[in-house]
Amino acid sequence: MVPLAAAIDPVIMKGMPAHITADTGIDVLTHALEAWMSANASVETDYYAASAVKSVMQNLPLVYKDGGNLKAREAMGIAAHYGGIAFNKAGLGYVHAIAHQLGAHYSIPHGRANAIVLPYVLDVNCQGSKKRLAELARKTGMVKSGQASKSDAEIATTSSRKYVN
Ligand SMILES: [Fe+2]
Repeated sequence: MVPLAAAIDPVIMKGMPAHITADTGIDVLTHALEAWMSANASVETDYYAASAVKSVMQNLPLVYKDGGNLKAREAMGIAAHYGGIAFNKAGLGYVHAIAHQLGAHYSIPHGRANAIVLPYVLDVNCQGSKKRLAELARKTGMVKSGQASKSDAEIATTSSRKYVN
């Protein structure tokens, strides 16, 4: 089911417990990362995926620590929406494929199952998609000045560790 519209109201999410904030936030990150890595990615899906990744990296730690941070909650809601646009057009990947099995067989919450699987799939993706992961890291501000001369492989590995830590 794909909705015609979304109402993103941070006040509704204000009382969400921290563990559900974390689980759903990692789901957003995974949607965006998998859309970015998809063979069906496009200029449009890349825009939404990169925007979502950047926002999650900035706002998920804030809203996890302070669930009443409405600015960060709203940013996460928009990131979820952007990630949804990206993956509905580009598709998902191995993280979701494996996480769905974990959820079905062991009743692990969806986002937490993604969090368990994500580091392993990123490691595999780092082998074959260094350039693409490095491009995402550069686009989302994860490469600090002074690191710009590093190779795609180094940047892809470093940024992948940041996503899962
Ligand atoms: Fe998901």
